[in-house]
Formats: sequence, structure tokens, C-alpha cells
Amino acid sequence: MIAGLPASGKSTVADDLGRALNCAVLGVDQVEAAMWRAGVSPAQPTHHAAYLAVEALAAEQLMLGHDVIVDAVNGPEEARAQWRDLAARQAAGLRFVEVQCGDDEVYRGRLAHRTRHIEGMPEPTWEGVLRRRATFPPWTDERLVIDSVHGRDENLQTALRYLRQ
Ligand SMILES: Nc1ncnc2c1ncn2[C@@H]1O[C@H](COP(=O)(O)OP(=O)(O)O)[C@@H](O)[C@H]1O
Ligand SMILES: [Mg+2]
Repeated sequence: MIAGLPASGKSTVADDLGRALNCAVLGVDQVEAAMWRAGVSPAQPTHHAAYLAVEALAAEQLMLGHDVIVDAVNGPEEARAQWRDLAARQAAGLRFVEVQCGDDEVYRGRLAHRTRHIEGMPEPTWEGVLRRRATFPPWTDERLVIDSVHGRDENLQTALRYLRQ
């Protein structure tokens, strides 16, 4: 499970891990944007629906004995609990990797300049990120915290070591 605020660097870590481990990466943002493109109104609970859709796909992968990486903010405790329950049901090992960006200047610049390949997914504002950070629930799960100020390869190696423990 990859977790963290918008533009913290989650998808970068998720994709780098997916390449290194040759395993599927399931992104909640991709699923939610697809629902909107299909005409489902953002006023509908598409965020929750996207978490549930990714859970269903992840369950299938775990049932087949495959590893899977899920890329989602995972702010609310209910979201984190969803993955704990899934792992328990499938008797799968679960690791949380939280991505943070430890330098606000860098963070703000990345948010302003990144281009994502998720058609229809709007970019959050810096003020929106700050609001979410102020209310981001504290963690109860054991997790690895990665700072995306560091280089991608360094972070990939750190994450791989953690997953292999
Ligand atoms: N370790 C890193 N080094 C350099 N740039 C990074 C790093 N991690 C993320 N970025 C850049 O920061 C931006 C946000 O990263 P992204 O993975 O899209 O965040 P998230 O998935 O959390 O929204 C992207 O433009 C990405 O290329
Ligand atoms: Mg992302």
C-alpha cells in the first residue's frame, strides 16, 4: 500500500516498485477518473467506489498468489482498515509505505508543474494540499516513511529493503 498526500510522490514510488518487482500497480485516481469520463457524476460517491473497485481487483490478484501495489492517498482510517481487512481475508502480507515531501518549496513546485497521464483528473491546489495535510489522520499501522526529496533510485532501494524484511 502506497499512501500520502496529493503530489507527495506516491505514484512515482508505486510505479518504480511495480517495474522493479514486475507486479501490478492499481491506482485509485485512475479508476475514479475513468468513472467520470464514463459520465458518472463527481457528485456521486466515486471516490469510495474507486477504492472498492481497486480492492476487488487487488483481491483477485492476491487470490492468484500475485503481489500487488495499490496507489492511493489512504488518509482516512477507514481506507487503511480496508486494506488491512483485505490482506487478512486473503492471508496476504501487507506493508504500508507513506510518501511525504519534506521540502515545501519543492513540494509546491512539483504540484504546480507536474503533468499526469490521468485524463479528467484535476490538479489540487497548494491550499487544498495544506488543508489536507493539517487534517491527515495520524497512523496507527507500522509503516515506512519515504521522503520524495531524495532521489527516486535511493527511495526505490529503501522501499525494496522494507518490503523484503
Ligand atoms: N523522488 C523524486 N524526485 C524527483 N521528482 C519526483 C520524485 N518523486 C516525485 N517526483 C515528481 O513530483 C511530482 C508528483 O509526484 P507523483 O508521483 O505524481 O505524486 P502523487 O502520486 O503522490 O500525487 C511528479 O511530477 C513527479 O515526477
Ligand atoms: Mg498519483
